Amino acid sequence: MKPAQPAHKPYRPVRTVLRHLRDGRPVRIRALVADDLEQANAFFEKLSAESRYLRFMAPMPYLSPDVMARLQRDLHAERSCVLVAAVEHEGRSCLIGGGRIVATDRPSVCEFSLTILDAWHGQGLGKVLLRELEHQAKRLGYHQIEGAVLTINVKMLAVALHRGFHLHCERGDRGVMHVYKHLYTPVNAPHRSLPVPD
Ligand SMILES: CC(C)(COP(=O)(O)OP(=O)(O)OC[C@H]1O[C@@H](n2cnc3c(N)ncnc32)[C@H](O)[C@@H]1OP(=O)(O)O)[C@@H](O)C(=O)NCCC(=O)NCCS
Repeated sequence: MKPAQPAHKPYRPVRTVLRHLRDGRPVRIRALVADDLEQANAFFEKLSAESRYLRFMAPMPYLSPDVMARLQRDLHAERSCVLVAAVEHEGRSCLIGGGRIVATDRPSVCEFSLTILDAWHGQGLGKVLLRELEHQAKRLGYHQIEGAVLTINVKMLAVALHRGFHLHCERGDRGVMHVYKHLYTPVNAPHRSLPVPD
């Protein structure tokens, strides 16, 4: 018997939200649009080698055609979503970060990833983007969001913990931590002792 599919939500455009970084600067979180792809290479080139490694878990000297093709596909995908964080600079919208959720082989589970330009790390943007990705995951009908994070990636682990994710290390997965969060709270579930702000 096939596993039950999560209920597909009727299509609604991804919301745009205005948030403020720790230093007060406004940042807009919105869906990736086709015009943003022109900035994709420039965005990637601004990332440090370390950030690229932490994101892709391998040395990544340039943005591969594969990654670009996936981004293009995600523009129209029903069960994926790419969000970008943009700031206004000299009248232009400049991308400073992004995040993505994609389907997994389990119908009710999606996987996330996040990338923020190094110059903007530590401003709370990781938490803002992850929160919005959780919102989009719920909207798309997923019951769980998860990610694979290198154990040396303390910033990503800190963000995941802050957002109430659980951490799990599987035997044989040396150097990789699995982080996951249930998005669906059954009725009558016991209250958590530490509520997670939404
Ligand atoms: C991981 C990443 C998305 C985090 O984004 P960010 O905007 O810097 O995250 P935030 O500012 O919201 O939070 C970072 C947290 O890490 C904590 N942190 C930073 N350095 C740390 C360290 N050495 N040890 C422990 N915690 C640390 C900060 O204190 C902060 O938590 P706090 O706000 O509770 O103090 C960003 O660093 C990034 O893009 N890295 C490269 C790509 C990557 O690793 N992607 C994740 C793969 S899924």
